[in-house]
Amino acid sequence: MAPKDMDALDAWAAKGLDLRALAARWLDRDALAIPAGTLPLAVAPFDGLEIAETIATLLEGRLTMGSRVRAFERAWADQVGTTHCIMVNSGSSALLVMLSALVATGRLEPGADVIVPAVGWSTSLFAVAQAGLTPVIQDVGEDSLCLEGAHDRPVLAVHLLGCPSRATGPLIIEDACGAHGARIGGRAVGNIGIAAAFSFFFSHHLTTGEGGAVTTSDTELADACRSIRAHGWVRERSDRVAVQAAHADIDPRFLFVVPGYNLRPTELAGAFGIHQVPRLGGYVATRRANHRQWCAAVADLGLPLRVFPELPGTTHAGFAFPMLLDADAPLDRTTLCRRLEAKGIQTRPISGSNLTRQPAFSQLPRARIEGPLPVADAVHERGIFVGQSHAFGPEQLELLLDGLKAALLE
Ligand SMILES: Cc1ncc(COP(=O)(O)O)c(C=O)c1O
Repeated sequence: MAPKDMDALDAWAAKGLDLRALAARWLDRDALAIPAGTLPLAVAPFDGLEIAETIATLLEGRLTMGSRVRAFERAWADQVGTTHCIMVNSGSSALLVMLSALVATGRLEPGADVIVPAVGWSTSLFAVAQAGLTPVIQDVGEDSLCLEGAHDRPVLAVHLLGCPSRATGPLIIEDACGAHGARIGGRAVGNIGIAAAFSFFFSHHLTTGEGGAVTTSDTELADACRSIRAHGWVRERSDRVAVQAAHADIDPRFLFVVPGYNLRPTELAGAFGIHQVPRLGGYVATRRANHRQWCAAVADLGLPLRVFPELPGTTHAGFAFPMLLDADAPLDRTTLCRRLEAKGIQTRPISGSNLTRQPAFSQLPRARIEGPLPVADAVHERGIFVGQSHAFGPEQLELLLDGLKAALLE
């Protein structure tokens, strides 16, 4: 990378290669734009700067995790308000690393119960089981579609589609993979519990293509995460000098201290990420304003479906726009999706919907259901989401309103 006092892109420009200008000139903006008359699930959240930094990284011959990943980790930890950030190659990997590290450090006993919401992403649930813990499935709140209330055991608080989960318990572990920039009061998700997982997949608020991160202010936990993401070895741990001294008979270059995986990001993902972080504030402001406006406008139509307005005292990060058909609506979810898709509006089920009704659930022998799941069942049978984006404005809202009216009043 460039000398410390010089930005890498400035350094390349000083050598005669203006990568910012190159990317600005050649970036195919049409390929990234919203096709006219459509409401897509996601819009690219990057620009030429990310591409220029990635080219610089390649030209410098750096592929594996290095100074740009470290710079991204510092920037994301500062953004969230934690001491540490550990970047990995996906949000699912972040969940696996975080939960495995909680067990490795004794924050959770092997096999301990962890309350998991019935509605979430598949790997929110799978990672709990893969870390040797016991997923205990409970229903979500009808206004948030997240876990709510006070719990007597550790909780995986999944902040669903940008809505922060207000669940409390003896230990809060956050799945913030789809809620970058959401807040409860003044506190950012990612800095609410002992640790949090984020995703930087293409369709999320910010992206590194594929990517993820764990945030925490627990130094021992962060060290365990660093080992677990990279083969279980001692490198990158803050306590490595002491650990190496305690195992002086083993070459420290290949000293393995905890059973790990290889879930490291590439340096290209770090290059992308460092220019993504400063964009978050503006993006979330737009998504939040859109979410408020869309909720009010759809509710005003008086159609047989409900929306999920921002909860009092929270900041909704507007990852996607969920809707739930009324039980007595004159059409089913499949028909609604088909009619919306025919109008250029992309749709999806609400994440994994009721995860206990997915075939994979039966392959998690330790997992169990606690209590009835009427909200998760309603979501499973009648819930959909459409896209939300920092790039959406009045045109996309108009398309949605017209599409819903046509679909439900046809
Ligand atoms: C709540 C939640 N958890 C986990 C993930 C998984 O993230 P990734 O696709 O980066 O593995 C997602 C992905 O959208 C998600 O929404």
